[in-house]
Amino acid sequence: MNADFMVIGAGIAGLSFALRAARHGSVVVLAKGDVFESNTAWAQGGIASVLSEQERDAGDSVEMHVADTLEAGAGLCRESMVRTIVGEGEEAIRDLVNYGVSFDREDHHYLLGREGGHSHRRILHAKDTTGREIARALIEAARKTPNLTILENHFVIDLITTSKLGAVAEDRVLGAYVLERKTGEVKVMRSDRVVLAAGGCGKVYLYTTNPDSATGDGVALGWRAGASIANMEFIQFHPTCFYNPGARGPEARSFLVSEAVRGEGGILINAKGEDFTKKVDPRGSLAPRDIVARAIDRELKRTGEACVYLDVTHKPKGFMKERFPYIYETLMKFGLDCETQPIPVVPAAHYQCGGVLTDNEGKTAIRGLFAIGEVACNGLHGANRLASNSLLEGNVMARRALDEMMRLYPPGKEAPNPPPIPEWEHGDTAEPDELVVIYHNWDEIRLLMWDYVSIVRTDNRLRRAAARLRNLKREVREFYWGHRVNSDILELRNLVAVAGLIVECALRRKESRGLHYTLDYPEADERQRVDTVVRRF
Ligand code: SIN
Repeated sequence: MNADFMVIGAGIAGLSFALRAARHGSVVVLAKGDVFESNTAWAQGGIASVLSEQERDAGDSVEMHVADTLEAGAGLCRESMVRTIVGEGEEAIRDLVNYGVSFDREDHHYLLGREGGHSHRRILHAKDTTGREIARALIEAARKTPNLTILENHFVIDLITTSKLGAVAEDRVLGAYVLERKTGEVKVMRSDRVVLAAGGCGKVYLYTTNPDSATGDGVALGWRAGASIANMEFIQFHPTCFYNPGARGPEARSFLVSEAVRGEGGILINAKGEDFTKKVDPRGSLAPRDIVARAIDRELKRTGEACVYLDVTHKPKGFMKERFPYIYETLMKFGLDCETQPIPVVPAAHYQCGGVLTDNEGKTAIRGLFAIGEVACNGLHGANRLASNSLLEGNVMARRALDEMMRLYPPGKEAPNPPPIPEWEHGDTAEPDELVVIYHNWDEIRLLMWDYVSIVRTDNRLRRAAARLRNLKREVREFYWGHRVNSDILELRNLVAVAGLIVECALRRKESRGLHYTLDYPEADERQRVDTVVRRF
């Protein structure tokens, strides 16, 4: 199969790109599972943007949004990228509305929420299921678009590049080997323009707010293809994941209680009812996430309690049900009435701030390969992402990446003499006989990352994690080459690769900055105010 544009991932970045690209050529979007299983579709909070009406009426400004983003990023944001993405916010909102996204409004005004680190109310939302609404509208639009094909249950195994085929001249992308999960067949898909938009890697940690699909596939693909990877030490932990050890099922394990709840007055308290975050930062529960997550971690260690609480019982009756119906109903399903009882919460891995290194147009060092959305490290987030900036980034970067592709490699002007691509070759066709090994490795990686490489780190713990991951990598490699591939093996292979990258980047940073906090170097060090960049070859 050939396509002018190949998009790996079907969240806001991938679909926003695909919808535009379809005006210029054929587009195939590859989703490894159900098209609705993305971090986008799971996003509750919203999309941060300063619209002209806010500039006029509420004293907010693009400049203030830029300043808040830079402050959260702790000195590592690429300012030109921040200005571009934040500056194009109004256009992004218009684009999404044109595709049918319906944000909450009152009369002619958008209702705006507030989240940690934002100096103003500027978060557009659709109740507390904003991501679902965005995904719905974009998927519906994509399904109606001629020239655009969404292939669900298609798992990209590896990118195909000229250097992988042994060419020494300029490295360029040629397509991908793709597993069709339903048939087990591996196909060659050709395209000279490939966009990685495969989201993040929350599943590398035991506790995460992400869907099961967030196994770092995009970063692992980029890494194996030889793209540079940057800043993987900066993993954002969301402070408020519902803590419910008794319940079963994915919803119980990873249910996020949106930061917007704190934006509307929710307060974090400990078991004694004390507002402990105020001791750490005057902004209390609404300080940026790294500060709040660390304050919770410290409180849990200090008190020996299993969780802290998010208290909204002081809000008027009916408020939660009206403003946060999904959160309210889901907690009710677990037997908790948040209007009368504080919500037990713990931090959980939420967002990958590093990723495949790109320029301000989403371009990687491999010709024709772009990365946009959570999978990319383009300088917007620096050492810590400001809440609700990522849906904005996904849409803006989709537009920029397409413009750049059309400028440099428009369809019809392909590089001459495309090399022949060999069929997929793999060591063994034996069916995996010991699935227990896969599940064991999967659990081991997630547990060791949680215990050794989470909110508070030390060199010692990182070195131990690195040693264990080396063994696990060897085992996974043997398993991968020794069996017929399936999605479990592929996810495990990606998960272990990404865990290794997080540890490698964390070991290189000998300071504390943003989301990387280490007891060995508790202060920021101006000399280390640079990206951590790693390359495979
Ligand atoms: C949330 O609703 O708390 C998540 C928002 C975000 O991560 O941007």
